[in-house]
Amino acid sequence: MPEYTAIILAAGKGTRMKSELPKVMHKLAGKPLIDHVLDTVEKIGISEVLTIVGHGREVVTEHIKGRSEIVIQDDQLGTGHALLQAVPFLKKGKGVLVLSGDQPLLASDTLDYLIKLHEKSKASATVLSAHMDNPYGYGRIITYEGLFKAIVEEKDSDEYQKKIKEINTGTYCFEGFSLQEALARITPKNVQGEYYLTDVFDILLSQGKRIETYCTPDSTQALGINNRVQLAEAEDILFDRIRKYWMMEGVTIVNPSSVFIDADTVLEQDVIIHPFSIIKGKTRIEEGSIIGPSTILEDCYCQKRCRIENTVAREAIIGPDCLVGPFAYLRPQTKLGVGVKIGDFVEIKNSSVGEGSKIPHLSYIGDSYLGKNVNIGAGTITCNYDGHKKHKTVINDDVFIGSNTNLVAPINIGENAVIGAGSTITKDVPSKALALERATQKTIENWQKAKDK
Ligand code: UD1
Ligand code: CA
Repeated sequence: MPEYTAIILAAGKGTRMKSELPKVMHKLAGKPLIDHVLDTVEKIGISEVLTIVGHGREVVTEHIKGRSEIVIQDDQLGTGHALLQAVPFLKKGKGVLVLSGDQPLLASDTLDYLIKLHEKSKASATVLSAHMDNPYGYGRIITYEGLFKAIVEEKDSDEYQKKIKEINTGTYCFEGFSLQEALARITPKNVQGEYYLTDVFDILLSQGKRIETYCTPDSTQALGINNRVQLAEAEDILFDRIRKYWMMEGVTIVNPSSVFIDADTVLEQDVIIHPFSIIKGKTRIEEGSIIGPSTILEDCYCQKRCRIENTVAREAIIGPDCLVGPFAYLRPQTKLGVGVKIGDFVEIKNSSVGEGSKIPHLSYIGDSYLGKNVNIGAGTITCNYDGHKKHKTVINDDVFIGSNTNLVAPINIGENAVIGAGSTITKDVPSKALALERATQKTIENWQKAKDK
């Protein structure tokens, strides 16, 4: 692989997004647009990456630092001006690959092919183009007798040019030195008064240099995100790609169009996902797990053969063979051991539940440690908050908690202890003890008769 520096243009305001957030930070399938572009560049093995930032530079810089060098474009005077800012950082003899931060669907094999073609043809520049049924808004590729002549922006184009369907994707390969020379000569003489990167092609041609185009057969890869309609369109395409990818890897997705899987999710073979489920963030689901219907998992780790139904879970670790739901809510830092059962209307937060334990109905468990084979009766609540601070509940192995118990934290229930139903437990309970806290039942015989008198 020849040496290339990748330059990602990401300084634009993204006016058409109508947003406080810089355009490249808008998310697509769980992560910002810029991340998708960085992923693609990293996949083809380019390690030197420069990102041009400007509008909202603090947010973008903070997000990509460590993955890319940062070049600042103070005023956003156009794509040519943006690229010019990177010139002082370019190394002699290296090729330059230019990408747009707003083109997230570009695939790495397309980029690979573009570079190979560029090398083979020994052109000064190679433009990645695509055929669009609706080319509106894109720069058009003007050819004469099959040879590249120019790129004309929508706003600068005449009626004839507007009908051209081959568009500029905004991705290019350059021979470094030719690019530097040509960039220094562009001017803002156009309808928008901007320095167009695309003007370098006129200059290169006038110097008798050679320009090639590679038209990608998959026009969806060229989709540039300029507004929220295009963002939604791109996300639809990406979700479809992701679903097909996982199905080919051995995942069953029932009614695929109702299932949404983020780009960084990892699924294993023989996972089954039922309709209306959303798998978000960096969720990982291991072999044989059955998810859904109607389940949202975000940044969760589901180990082998989990069964999770009608559940919302975030930042939770769900051990092998767990049964969760229907209607469970697992909040961050929940950790379920092997074969745990969490039933309906149970909320768990920042708690670890040991192997074989059961919390089958109507419970809140927060800031707790539960050992192995604990049984939590219906309606049991950990009272973890005293109005100021959170406190911990410890329930050791083999404890049986009767229904409708309040465990007032901080509290420790010893191994094998039993708590009688309906108790409010405020003191630690030793191992093997029975603890009860309730008023003695009063039974008045023949009450109905007594009332009648
Ligand atoms: C650009 C191309 C157009 C192409 C289209 C593909 C030019 C003149 N036009 O148009 O031919 O069909 O992309 O999507 O290049 N940017 C900066 N600094 C600036 C201006 C823009 O960094 O001063 C960045 C933006 O953040 C964006 C990228 O460059 O990531 C493209 O800019 P944008 O304004 O979206 O260009 P288009 O009008 O889409
Ligand atoms: Ca654009």
